[in-house]
Amino acid sequence: MLEEVDTSPSDKRTLWFVTQNDHKYQEARRSLDPFGIKIRKLASPKTEIQSTDLGDIAKFAAKEAARKHNRTVVVEDSGLFIRALNGFPGPYSSYIHATIGVEGLLHLMNQKRRREAYFQASLAVSSPKATSQEFSGRVNGTISHKSAGKQGFGFDPIFVPKDTRKTFAEGGSQFKDRYSHRAIAFRKLALWYIKTKVQTRNQFCRPAEP
Ligand code: IMP
Repeated sequence: MLEEVDTSPSDKRTLWFVTQNDHKYQEARRSLDPFGIKIRKLASPKTEIQSTDLGDIAKFAAKEAARKHNRTVVVEDSGLFIRALNGFPGPYSSYIHATIGVEGLLHLMNQKRRREAYFQASLAVSSPKATSQEFSGRVNGTISHKSAGKQGFGFDPIFVPKDTRKTFAEGGSQFKDRYSHRAIAFRKLALWYIKTKVQTRNQFCRPAEP
């Protein structure tokens, strides 16, 4: 079932995150909060083009959503890349999660000694005038031998970030915010956003030429 679309009027200072995944939205909100940046959820369906490049997938959807909703939007595309499976499921992660799921992926990893993997998140910010910016974040780690933990979503129960001993699903939200690909990408976005806003403000506040 589709979540209700937030149709509140656009406000130039609000960033709208086009997603139907509340976990992603909450993670984004927590990452931007320390920077004083407010983000709101636009639970509208988005177009997912066929591509192996997460950035291209996010950029296409962001441009389209910005035009359609006449506001500045953020779109994220993310995936889990497993070395022993040559990067699979990568851009197909949501389909693989919906079909074979966590247990199916663990099954594919049976007998695999090398268990390195990474999560990547690519963000695209787009305005109705079609300007766009991209940010990405990556977290390296390993695929556990069995599913562990109940928090989070997707492949959180089988991903152990590098230099730690628990899965994202065991660690919970603070742990996730500390290590996740999404938190890294949203922090990059925050630094850019603040810089852009300060520059824009300075243009208007500059003293008049003598
Ligand atoms: P999409 O970005 O909506 O195409 O979905 C990416 C898929 O990758 C999700 O459905 C999850 O299965 C997986 N994924 C992406 N990020 C995470 C994460 O932070 N934790 C667990 N799974 C994730």
